[in-house]
Amino acid sequence: MIKQTDIISNIATDTLRGLNSRPKFLLPKYFYDDAGSRIFQQIMQMPEYYLTQCEQEIFNIHAEALANAFNYGNPHNLEIIELGSGDGLKTKVLLRELLASQIKFTYIPVDISSKANELLVKSLKQEMPTLNVEPRTGDYFSIIKQLNGHAGIRKAILFLGSNIGNFPDDELHKFMMQLLSIANKGDKVLIGFDLKKSPAVIMPAYEDPHGRTAQFNLNLLTRINRELDANFEIHRFEHYTNYDPHTGEVKSFLVSNSEHEVHIKALDSRFKFSQWEPIFMEVSRKFDIESIEQLANKYGFAINGHFFDNRRYFANSLWIKE
Ligand code: AVI
Repeated sequence: MIKQTDIISNIATDTLRGLNSRPKFLLPKYFYDDAGSRIFQQIMQMPEYYLTQCEQEIFNIHAEALANAFNYGNPHNLEIIELGSGDGLKTKVLLRELLASQIKFTYIPVDISSKANELLVKSLKQEMPTLNVEPRTGDYFSIIKQLNGHAGIRKAILFLGSNIGNFPDDELHKFMMQLLSIANKGDKVLIGFDLKKSPAVIMPAYEDPHGRTAQFNLNLLTRINRELDANFEIHRFEHYTNYDPHTGEVKSFLVSNSEHEVHIKALDSRFKFSQWEPIFMEVSRKFDIESIEQLANKYGFAINGHFFDNRRYFANSLWIKE
């Protein structure tokens, strides 16, 4: 069980490390406090944020094929572990399909936000009363470690929404190594990847006309003010995003529009910002099929298949541990 104090001390350590670095950075895993999770829900409902619609479409079109892929046949005990479950909207399509096919399984939603998990479990109890649910709250890495003990149970690990695109290279490596450590031969992994496409489609998803994404980023400063007793002045920061079609990286920054100093009491530190100095906030990487297959193979997974939406904006890639 992750204690709230562990999360707080992590945000303290990571904020200190990030703001002492040059260039400065903050970690996007801290976007998702209760307010941040609510803003992210609103982002997912924006017409410009095509990722959610595309992945939902994939689950709707391919529900049966996906459920079949996870049907190892009874009497195997199957655990469906979803990392970063959020509102579980896409997964519900799959869960309904699996329940209908009489497969015995336990659904383990893992989310950093306790509120998101609470709401998900409540709605699942209402919509699918026969479903076995064992929610976990905490960050993926700590929870994955706890799941290591469950040997002998068939696993299907879901990592949807292109969350994988938010890992910088070193974190991606760490994540893949941990995935490798919990997957036994024959276990399956389903990962959502946002694909490279026209920058004219990508950019409005991350620099939206409603200002939601800016609010999402700025909310982390509000969180630091509240949790670490800091005095960030939100109006001193502008949200800026760019896309590099070569690397497939969307990068988000908060840029200081004036020279100023921020005091973070819990860290007993002051941080100077010069005018137009950026804080790097997040990478949202876009992939091509070749790089997805290379990633799978590099970490000991074989490709079982790719599922696409009609516009081929997004792919859910199914891997099997060799
Ligand atoms: C959660 N993740 C996949 C989102 C993304 O698209 O990178 C987070 C996000 N950041 C800005 N908008 C959405």
